[in-house]
Amino acid sequence: MRRSLIMGNWKMNGSLQEGQQLASALAAGLGDVQQEVAVCVPFIYLSEISKVLAGSAIALGAQNVADQASGAYTGEISAAMLADIGIKYALVGHSERRSYYGDTDQSVANRFVQAIKQNVIPVLCVGETLAEREGNKTFQVIDEQLDTVIATAGIEAFSKAVIAYEPVWAIGTGKTASDEQAQEVHHYIRQRIAGVHPEIAEKLQILYGGSVKPDNAKALFAMPDIDGGLVGGASLDANGFLQICHSV
Ligand code: 13P
Repeated sequence: MRRSLIMGNWKMNGSLQEGQQLASALAAGLGDVQQEVAVCVPFIYLSEISKVLAGSAIALGAQNVADQASGAYTGEISAAMLADIGIKYALVGHSERRSYYGDTDQSVANRFVQAIKQNVIPVLCVGETLAEREGNKTFQVIDEQLDTVIATAGIEAFSKAVIAYEPVWAIGTGKTASDEQAQEVHHYIRQRIAGVHPEIAEKLQILYGGSVKPDNAKALFAMPDIDGGLVGGASLDANGFLQICHSV
């Protein structure tokens, strides 16, 4: 049985003080849960938020990680630096990185490899745009995004990774994929991995992201191949995010 994982992505929001208040409300309100809970916070706040979350069951993630190990890469943050301060997860290939900052399937694969090398768990984000869905290209896009990472990192690396399916048309739009639409793609992703390595596929956590809210989380998380959520906007509200965490 796979453990569920509920992950917040704060994106580029809030001040340090607001982040500390949010983290402390989450730590105080989570209680005893079976599922894993994490928040991906802006790089610059990771150290301070980790102090607030110390002793709680909530893990920390970064929202990106460099595609190189170290060296002359001004402005980048390496996986070793994240590991150094105890960060458990790093998002790689979030659609906002792909569309606004030029991340390619190959650079995403390189980031994934860097995270794996430092024992930071990469959360590989994949998903199609609205035009791709309407052009019946959803599975082709997923294949391309996954296959580059499998070819670069090797399938074994997926035993220490998480995948997040985030249809671009559902991010921040209030349009959630229906439970069936999300399940269909999650199942497809698991089958694709199973085609290479069935045991890894069976254990792989696949999260759904895209307008997850307290009122739709339960039905999404009840689908057989949906192992939790990657939550943007709704993770900025402590009560709402806690409700989502308890929807498993
Ligand atoms: P929203 O939940 O705001 O749609 O964002 C989803 C997302 O991009 C999480 O990474």
